[in-house]
Amino acid sequence: MIRRRLLPVLGVFLISLLGPIQAFAGDDAVETGRLLAILLDAGRGAVAANQPLINDATKGDKGFTPDVFAQQLAEKFKGRTGVDLGNLKGSGVPASAQKLLPELVAAAKKTVADNQATINKPGVGYKGFTPAHFGTQTAAEFSAKTNVYMKQTTTDALLRNQKNKADAFEAGIMKKLGDSGYPRQGDKIMSETVGGDVRVMLPLFYGKGCMGCHGEPKGETDVSGYKKEGAKEGDLGGAVSVKLPAK
Ligand code: HEC
Repeated sequence: MIRRRLLPVLGVFLISLLGPIQAFAGDDAVETGRLLAILLDAGRGAVAANQPLINDATKGDKGFTPDVFAQQLAEKFKGRTGVDLGNLKGSGVPASAQKLLPELVAAAKKTVADNQATINKPGVGYKGFTPAHFGTQTAAEFSAKTNVYMKQTTTDALLRNQKNKADAFEAGIMKKLGDSGYPRQGDKIMSETVGGDVRVMLPLFYGKGCMGCHGEPKGETDVSGYKKEGAKEGDLGGAVSVKLPAK
């Protein structure tokens, strides 16, 4: 009699133990990694869209606050994934994504908050706050908070910031992403289970807006002080890399 009454209790206890583990399993981990990578890149896009404003030397307060940024981030993310960050519970995304996407939004907002003094500095044009700086800082903050590996990376030939250096897996995948036959549109990821981890990579291709810093003429110093790589539109610029436990 007592046993029968205890069984359901035990069951619930076991399910609650298994819950967070199952949340990372297989396809769910791939989907969560994909959504996280697109969210980081959507943040890069939101910063890129505001670059002329950020670099406007005639303005002090730019009004590019963490909340204004977050609104634009959510719009861009919804446009690319169909997922409403304001209603993750009803969105059908994996439980691990429901937990981690808000963490990445928080990390992204923190980056914009931390850079307010820079962004609002009057009398200065280029301020050293670009999509890449946003991406590097946000990925590091997110990884530190969640223990989920996230990185904006590139090939050694293009590498500017050593913090973004690719590991062997990332270098191998980028060879495939850089192939001229790989789709340039549609956020097509590559994923693989390596050891106990699901690894997901979202390619970043150079568009027109990247050429001022990464394009021709090769070797000329760009506005950020780095040497231009001589890249062409459509070339692989790098990737967002995410690693989640497979189970
Ligand atoms: C204003 C100049 C500028 C523009 C425009 C620009 N970048 Fe960069 N990019 C940089 C700088 C500076 C870094 C190094 C940032 C750092 O120190 O973290 C960088 C780094 C990167 C990285 C990280 C790997 C590394 O080398 O550290 C990738 C990937 C990247 N850029 C891709 C792009 C793409 C794709 C675009 C266009 C959508 C773009 N960039 C536009 C200046 C620029």
